[in-house]
Amino acid sequence: MALVPTAELVAAGPVCAFNVITMEHAEAVAAGADRAGHAAILQISENAVRFHGGRLGPIAAAARAVAADSEARLALHLDHVVTEELWRAAPEHGFGSFMVDASRLSYVDNVAATRAAADFGHARGLWVEAELGTIGGKAGDPHAPDARTDPAEAVSYVEQTGVDGLAVAVGSRHAMTRREAALDHDLIAALRAAVPVPLVLHGSSGVGDDELRRAVAGGIRKVNIGTALNLAYTAAVRAGASAHTDPRRYLAPAREAMAEAVAAYLTTVATPYG
Ligand code: G3H
Ligand code: ZN
Repeated sequence: MALVPTAELVAAGPVCAFNVITMEHAEAVAAGADRAGHAAILQISENAVRFHGGRLGPIAAAARAVAADSEARLALHLDHVVTEELWRAAPEHGFGSFMVDASRLSYVDNVAATRAAADFGHARGLWVEAELGTIGGKAGDPHAPDARTDPAEAVSYVEQTGVDGLAVAVGSRHAMTRREAALDHDLIAALRAAVPVPLVLHGSSGVGDDELRRAVAGGIRKVNIGTALNLAYTAAVRAGASAHTDPRRYLAPAREAMAEAVAAYLTTVATPYG
């Protein structure tokens, strides 16, 4: 089916967004969404683009082709974009949204860079997400495990930048391999009450099922998941690679393991808390 606008899935959310690195990731997200009977967002990060030699075209085309062949409702999002040239390329590659990541800049510079990106995206009908309050854990980050988004600052930030969705620092962090993050639910509630746009949780691989369901009940609308799929993928590759030479013999179970993880997350997030 044709790609669905990201804005539509977030408005109907909560919705999960899964990081796509290879074509198998995209196939797994589509299969998992189909299996669970829920919509999902395929998201390609700037890091993934860098892995593909800096070329956005091939991996975006793979994701679009997988979505076109799927019965699931899928959107396409460009994630954690630091480079201006890359967010400017989003519309021509079929993305319904992008996240401009200026979180490493000072507040004033973050606002200016994000405003420019939001204006560009809106002129082309795209949904634009940004981040306030560094969510640590990405390579090279000034990692601040206790980073928190201040609700009052978030309100001005959204007003000044015009973004459609806000990634918030509420206790999660990127690339956790254990689901042991403790979220600040009081802060999520305060942000939900104050901020007029949907809230996005990053680093959700490190968040347990109950915490995720509680976060969604408290107002998180987009749940970003990457590392959990890679854990499933790599475990299956490790189990199969020593016995097989043909990569299809271990990539097929790796893709299936990711699809199961996708279906499980979608079911968790869609299950009411309490
Ligand atoms: O933007 C992507 C996500 O925040 C993924 O984080 O790999 O820790 O699940 P994660
Ligand atoms: Zn993230």
